[in-house]
Amino acid sequence: MGSFRVGQLGFGHRLGLTGVLGCLAVGQLAGLSHMRTHFDKRDDRPGFTVDDVKSAYRGLDAPSPLLASLNAGHPDGLKPDERKVLIAWLTSGKIEQDYDNPDLGVASPREIVAASCLQCHSVRADASKVDANARKLTLDTTADIKKVAFSRQVLPTPADKIVVSIHAHAPSMALMALAVMALATFSRWSRMITGGLSALCGLGLAGEFAGMWFATSGGAWINVLLASGAAFHLSFALLTLLAFAELWLPGCANSGACCGGGTKGKCNGQPSSSEAKQP
Ligand code: HEC
Repeated sequence: MGSFRVGQLGFGHRLGLTGVLGCLAVGQLAGLSHMRTHFDKRDDRPGFTVDDVKSAYRGLDAPSPLLASLNAGHPDGLKPDERKVLIAWLTSGKIEQDYDNPDLGVASPREIVAASCLQCHSVRADASKVDANARKLTLDTTADIKKVAFSRQVLPTPADKIVVSIHAHAPSMALMALAVMALATFSRWSRMITGGLSALCGLGLAGEFAGMWFATSGGAWINVLLASGAAFHLSFALLTLLAFAELWLPGCANSGACCGGGTKGKCNGQPSSSEAKQP
């Protein structure tokens, strides 16, 4: 060992390995975009957030933001009987049907919101008088209301499905990691760099699957899953780039560093410099 470098391989090998690296990279990108679309609405809200991942593995029981803030006594000036109507409406299970219903108490929820909330939570709220944080939440339309009125309850992915997913992904992703690690390691790049990235890649992958496996048993494992996943994807991408650069960057044949050691003869079809220097 010690002397072989991937960049020394002939044109055909390098072409073939380039195709392989390309597929690995595309696979990785497709996987990430699938993650996004797959998890995006997982927590009942558009946009890919940590809540999506949490709800996928542990389920989610997030109370309605409207209800939570009413229960916490917000806003200060709301009359108690109006607060009662809003709370009854939000916990009725008929949030959409009853928004305009005047029979719930002193007024319909819509009227109460218009009278007691919109001076602050509206696109038309006076920016010079109203807190910017209040204007981040608008309650003007029914669609606005629907965004914050519902509690979100999401059932976790069943444990056996997670096991099947690990079964499908762990061996294949480990082999992918092995491939880029090997290609990047037997290259011109310093072993410190490729070793560090390999450690990050391998441990990241192990951490990702450990996180998946244990995610249902404790919230901290979600963080392990996310941090390890990020470490894996980043180092995998860098190792792929290093391997690709090793295949095609010039200099391997002429640097001597690349064709050093015991390799005699030609390197990429040209005499290696260590050989050329010899008398
Ligand atoms: C006097 C202005 C004012 C009025 C009136 C008011 N709010 Fe607010 N509201 C605020 C401000 C300011 C915040 C941001 C508080 C913070 O950031 O801590 C807020 C925050 C909220 C939040 C939390 C948003 C989040 O992202 O968690 C909800 C929900 C809310 N208000 C609902 C209501 C409802 C419902 C009413 C009417 C019954 C109402 N507010 C009336 C000023 C107001």
